[in-house]
Amino acid sequence: MTPLRLGIAGLGTVGVGIVKIVQQHADLLEKRAGRPIVISAVSARSKFKNRNVDLSAYAWEDDPINLAKRDDIDVFVEVMGGHEGPAKDATAAAIIAGKDIVTANKALLAIHGQALAESAEAADRVIRFEAAVAGGIPVVKSLTEGLAGNEITRVMGVMNGSCNYILTRMENAGLSYEDVFEEANSLGYLEADPELDVGGIDAGHKLALLASIAFGTQVDFDAVELEGIGAITIDDIHQAADMGYKIKLLGVAQMTGRGLEQRMSPCLVPDTSPLGQLEGGTNMVVLEGDAVGQIVLRGAGAGEGPTASAVMGDVMDIARGLRISTFGQPANTLRQARAARAAVP
Ligand code: NAP
Ligand code: HSE
Repeated sequence: MTPLRLGIAGLGTVGVGIVKIVQQHADLLEKRAGRPIVISAVSARSKFKNRNVDLSAYAWEDDPINLAKRDDIDVFVEVMGGHEGPAKDATAAAIIAGKDIVTANKALLAIHGQALAESAEAADRVIRFEAAVAGGIPVVKSLTEGLAGNEITRVMGVMNGSCNYILTRMENAGLSYEDVFEEANSLGYLEADPELDVGGIDAGHKLALLASIAFGTQVDFDAVELEGIGAITIDDIHQAADMGYKIKLLGVAQMTGRGLEQRMSPCLVPDTSPLGQLEGGTNMVVLEGDAVGQIVLRGAGAGEGPTASAVMGDVMDIARGLRISTFGQPANTLRQARAARAAVP
């Protein structure tokens, strides 16, 4: 059978996790996809960094744009991060070169996803991004496949593990925000720019992507009302506890009379509720549909294995021939544009 050939741009936490799954589960993947999944070429900043995986069988590209254009790859797997520069340019180049895209990069998609999705659709390519939202939790697949027969009424959840770690550590140890922030930073739990986490920006990116899928709208990160956790004090935590509540950085997206509402902000949740019980770096996403009612998904929102697991779910779908991008709007946008063109006498 014709193999599906991957080019992996980025060999950090997620990229190495992908290499390990492809190597360790080669037989399982082939059996399930009906064809081999192979890595043809990889790219990262440093060719000589020890990454504790054997990369000797793969071609090396210093420049991810060259990787994106290689004839021996079918899928460009973007796990470098960042919403400008190489991640954006190489992803755009890969689409033009006729590659399907799998990415874990929520910042890239929240800001440029709409344009990338439209260009992918025009080129008959797919963009998949399960790993970009809530790491290992298959929430994108749940919305696009399992709940496809529902009108989605609300999406909410805790989508940033670092903030949940900080808030639960404040609760459990009685420590100040500043002390726990320093601790989390020294343990490497926070993004290189911690404001992405504690400012609610990272979680806002994820919410904007989920909202687009759930409500069939364009990705609109600028419309997310954002408030981070930086102003939460230990007194706030204690007062909430006295009333039987916990404070969570909670994202909510729902259709209202004024259109799509997207909010990511600290909220009180009952301490006995599933969201209130969510400890540490775990994520939880609650989906509500008119037919299914409410379902709750809980799991690891980050880390090598969970995030690579989500990337590989997308790779497997492409290997099986599923030609569905996971954005809410581009198909509609283009269909309307085509219909308008066709209507011109
Ligand atoms: P990471 O550990 O920092 O790794 C980034 C990789 O990209 C490194 O291998 C780096 O090369 C490479 N890279 C950076 N700039 C490059 C450039 N200009 N050219 C070529 N390679 C370049 O990041 P990560 O944690 O794996 O995250 C990757 C993506 O997944 C990000 O978009 C992130 O938001 C997303 N994500 C991560 C997690 C997680 O748990 N880590 C969870 C969900 C989503 P060097 O190694 O040579 O420096
Ligand atoms: N900084 C993110 C978090 C990483 O803490 O959830 C996973 O997206």
